[in-house]
Amino acid sequence: MEANAGLGIRANVLAMSPYVPGKPIEDVRRELGLERVVKLASNENPFGPSPLAVAAVREAAANMHLYPDGSSRELREAICAKFGVGEENVILGNGSDEIIHLLGVMFLDGDDDELMMGDPGFSRYDASAFLAASRLKKVPLDAEYRHDLSRMAAEVTEATRLIFVANPNNPTGTIVRRTEFERFLDALPPHVLVVLDEAYGEFAAHIEDYPTSLDYVREGRNVVGLRTFSKAYGLAGLRIGFGFAPPAVTDAFHRAREPFNVNSLAQAAAVAALQDDAHVAKTAAANREGVARLNAIFRSVGAVPVESFANFAYADLGYDAGPVFQALMQRGIIVRAGAHVGHPHCLRVSVGTPEEIDAFEAAFREVAAEKRG
Ligand SMILES: Cc1ncc(COP(=O)(O)O)c(C=O)c1O
Repeated sequence: MEANAGLGIRANVLAMSPYVPGKPIEDVRRELGLERVVKLASNENPFGPSPLAVAAVREAAANMHLYPDGSSRELREAICAKFGVGEENVILGNGSDEIIHLLGVMFLDGDDDELMMGDPGFSRYDASAFLAASRLKKVPLDAEYRHDLSRMAAEVTEATRLIFVANPNNPTGTIVRRTEFERFLDALPPHVLVVLDEAYGEFAAHIEDYPTSLDYVREGRNVVGLRTFSKAYGLAGLRIGFGFAPPAVTDAFHRAREPFNVNSLAQAAAVAALQDDAHVAKTAAANREGVARLNAIFRSVGAVPVESFANFAYADLGYDAGPVFQALMQRGIIVRAGAHVGHPHCLRVSVGTPEEIDAFEAAFREVAAEKRG
């Protein structure tokens, strides 16, 4: 870094750490000489994409020499029809990651502005604040690992521009309920935009008082809802996310975004995936079983799982989870340890297929037994 000091790279960028993704399967297989590696670290859909999406991509591939439709017309119309919103309410991005980034670009203007989020929360919110050289306020989750909405509301100042609430939260999987969320919205001053990140929303939609951003956007509140095709829809590799926004935010988004920010294969796949409700329903049902199973495995060795409504389990092992993470890796199971989010005793395990959960269970029981012995 010293050698390039003269280049004038902005201090806020140099203060950032690169995103650490879950370790790629192939790297682990090669490094450890393992035959089978199971990755339960990135909250992907273990059942893959909808076959309709795969067929749509095959067909669209023949036209990959053409620029995509910059307005994503067909997909936007499909989203409007499915969710009952107007075009002026729909934003689309290269993954919801891009939308998170652009919200920072649109709303944060240096050190006078602040982004608020729960702690721990999704790391791309931090990045959005850092890239705008703005302030970041992280409000600790409560004792049940849930967003502490009353504390967040109390910490709002003139500087607060964006508040991110991931619901379910990543990495804990916890949710906030409708009444508390509406009380929170009512307590906020009009200069604050709340971003309700529903990346895992399809997994919590069966909960009766689970709030949906659609209601608030329709009511014209200062709320943006974020959705993604990466989780329940199984299109993570194509990078496509969307959001519901007030018209003024949608207008600003179209000014700020790149002209072709959603590629043509992603558009085609997403249109098809939206038609396959059965695939999402099957995924969500299997996910509930998977979370219950992972939680039971954790409980059986004395760990305490958090009540997760996402497609992963999160548990407090009661001791340093770092060595457990390493020992699982040696056995070909990739999960996430909580040290980097300030929960050194916690482990996050994405729901896999039943066979992948079997593999996790066998390895985890061995590791836990060694710990006890
Ligand atoms: C809470 C949350 N929001 C957004 C994202 C980003 O999803 P994508 O960029 O794949 O749409 C993730 C991904 O893990 C996430 O956990």
